[in-house]
Amino acid sequence: MYSHDIATLTSWLDEARSAVFFGGAGVSTASGIPDFRSAAGLYASQGPGGRPPEYLLSHDCLVDEPAEFFAFHRANLVHPEAKPNPAHTGLAELEAQGRLAAVVTQNIDGLHQLAGSRVVYELHGSVERYHCLGRDRHQFTLAQIPDEPVVPNCPRCGAMVRPDVVLYGEALDAEVVDAAVAAVRRADLLLIGGTSLNVYPAAGLLHYYRGDRLALVNLSETPMDYQADLVIHAPIDEVLAEVCKRLFG
Ligand code: OAD
Repeated sequence: MYSHDIATLTSWLDEARSAVFFGGAGVSTASGIPDFRSAAGLYASQGPGGRPPEYLLSHDCLVDEPAEFFAFHRANLVHPEAKPNPAHTGLAELEAQGRLAAVVTQNIDGLHQLAGSRVVYELHGSVERYHCLGRDRHQFTLAQIPDEPVVPNCPRCGAMVRPDVVLYGEALDAEVVDAAVAAVRRADLLLIGGTSLNVYPAAGLLHYYRGDRLALVNLSETPMDYQADLVIHAPIDEVLAEVCKRLFG
């Protein structure tokens, strides 16, 4: 059954000319970054002081308790040691070989780009980029953010510096959403992987897909399983490694 499904996905990707991958935290678990909603995920335990992790990832927390926000952010969302796994490298190879048009991701870890993917729409931003809240919105990279003080300040204007990530209570970047929607609309294959599809508006983008090949690779069931033309409940890193081996040797 599994082998037959891998064969189907391989042939779909072989025939695709504008496939889009839509993914989430499950893409990076094999790189050692926990997801959010699995048993070992970030939401399984409470944050410091009994605060819910969702609060520690919110705009309210950034504004009201910046020290708590940054302590949680630095400890749980920034993984400079993480390396791309076969899911990331497989997607980069599919793009390089002309089979994949874009990666749309909810992840903020930058691993798709590190693996070599070029067209990546980061719906929730990236921990690699920062900007200050001053009038001129000075920009920084993660490497430019010192460990101390915990709440970073802009060396140019003194305003607080924050990560370019979308927090609970904040809107997605309209340009990124528009570009992702356009890619999904044009797609001749939509491959969804490593996401519980619980979070909107990100998951809502999938409704723009008009093609008839919708494949879903996820460890656990998702609310879209019943709509997919192909469902594989297996690790996405293993599935993409096998697909790329069959396609490219
Ligand atoms: P979730 O933690 O909700 O879902 C991850 C999914 O990946 C789960 O269904 C797992 O079963 C599956 N999974 C884990 N490892 C996998 C693997 N190796 N192969 C295949 N599947 C695997 O993460 P997201 O759906 O990404 O937003 O969560 C969406 C958003 O919720 C995140 O971007 C974040 C969070 O709140 C913000 O912080 C704004």
